[in-house]
Amino acid sequence: MNDENTIVCRCSDVTLKEVRDLIKQGYTTYDEIKRITRIGMGPCQGKTCGQLVLREISAATGKSIKELKLHMNRPPVVGVKLDLIAEEAKKND
Ligand code: FES
Repeated sequence: MNDENTIVCRCSDVTLKEVRDLIKQGYTTYDEIKRITRIGMGPCQGKTCGQLVLREISAATGKSIKELKLHMNRPPVVGVKLDLIAEEAKKND
């Protein structure tokens, strides 16, 4: 199996090749890779892919995984019902 077909993040469909290419370009923090690829932003919030990405960064930079930071978890955004938005819009007409 090659890097192009190996999925690192199943939620955001990111391959090992994409992660390795970004690391080669100088993106060596989890947050940088996350912002570019959306890795770790899927339903599992990086529980599956987070450690895999840290392992790749560690292997490429020589830093231990303990030195590397995983991304900050933020609570999910609360959905707003469309009828509430429509009601507010009517009030402003
Ligand atoms: S596998 Fe990466 S966010 Fe779920």
